[in-house]
Amino acid sequence: MHDPAAGRETFVSHLESAIDGTRLAADELQTLHRDRPLWVRYDLEAIRRSCSREQLRDREPGMWRYRELLPPRSGDPIVSLGEGPSPLIPCPRLGGQLGLQNLWIKDEGQLPTGSFKSRGMAMAITMAQRFGVKRVALPSAGNAGGAAGAYAARAGMECFVFMPEDTPIVNQYEAVLAGARTFRVNGLITDCGRIVREGQQRMQWFDLSTLKEPYRIEGKKTMGLELAEQCEWVLPDVILYPTGGGTGLIGMWKAFAELAELGWLEDDGRPRMISVQSDGCAPIARAFAAQERFAEPFANAQTIARGLRVPAAVGDFMILDAVRESGGCAIAVDETRITEWMRQAVTAEGISVCPETAACVGALETLTAQGQIQPHERVVVFNTGAAQKYIEAITTTLPSIDLEKEIAWSEIESP
Ligand SMILES: Cc1ncc(COP(=O)(O)O)c(C=O)c1O
Repeated sequence: MHDPAAGRETFVSHLESAIDGTRLAADELQTLHRDRPLWVRYDLEAIRRSCSREQLRDREPGMWRYRELLPPRSGDPIVSLGEGPSPLIPCPRLGGQLGLQNLWIKDEGQLPTGSFKSRGMAMAITMAQRFGVKRVALPSAGNAGGAAGAYAARAGMECFVFMPEDTPIVNQYEAVLAGARTFRVNGLITDCGRIVREGQQRMQWFDLSTLKEPYRIEGKKTMGLELAEQCEWVLPDVILYPTGGGTGLIGMWKAFAELAELGWLEDDGRPRMISVQSDGCAPIARAFAAQERFAEPFANAQTIARGLRVPAAVGDFMILDAVRESGGCAIAVDETRITEWMRQAVTAEGISVCPETAACVGALETLTAQGQIQPHERVVVFNTGAAQKYIEAITTTLPSIDLEKEIAWSEIESP
């Protein structure tokens, strides 16, 4: 097969500080600049000359098909478990309940480790391996820890995961099962992050925390590239994304900008990005309402949607910039109704929706009622993880949902 990138190792031109635009070299291991994240920048003009979107048709499905827009050099070993494509599933029944004629769920729960974290971790571990890293560590609200464990195992790399003690048990077990050294911490993800930071010198591990290395964004960016291709290069009007650290939202917005610059989009219409949080932990929604660019840490953060329990995000301004540039908004929904929305979505469509995504269903309820989303608009909700990983949320004591009581007993007759 003709390889459009043949002869060119990578189209990455440099890394760029998101806070002040400083250029940094891409051929060495980088972390933060002035305590803030880095963008990976590409020579988009060269990509435009050497590759067209039609050439994608002949390639293997999955996130690596967008290789010109990704950081590995040709020849770098890719650490993969088969990431995507995740299906874009029409949801007429749920849409009908919410007053929407064109609702889809992009089901990232079907990715290798049962969540969208596979994309970011596949990329981060691939790049860590490229730079010779042998040991990684990260704080995790749950899914990232499970995914890091799996991809580190795949790469033969040592992995240390620090999780709040009430992290979903499935996430704890999946990390242990994959051989990661897994620690429960009596604190929040920010406390876990501090342990990773403070242990760096002594333990000589590479910090894989959300946005503290540049490549997880590039992995998550493939959600946007894939969505664009699935929509035949006409982007939807609205995207709802459950936001913790914000990598997915930031990555998708970056993907759309790169596609527009390449001239791959049919028109320049870009979606309004809706960042969804729970009112139990809503630093981004609060900063949006206050018209701030940076978010204050959220005190006493608590939500059953564990991936949203990020009281302070290092990329807060990147999330808020993307939301504002897109003409979207950041919204917090009622924590006590999350399991109700979860059940509504799964019952209506059969899609295994996680509590984080259930919050997006709540946001749709509000935004359609307020007329901020019109009935005819094309709306895509990202289901970031599979419901099966959330035993605690499913069996929660909230009165709206007690599945145990609803399972009947059936006797078989003895022969
Ligand atoms: C299922 C799920 N949804 C959403 C999020 C938030 O993702 P992000 O950090 O990209 O905002 C997480 C993060 O842990 C998650 O596990």
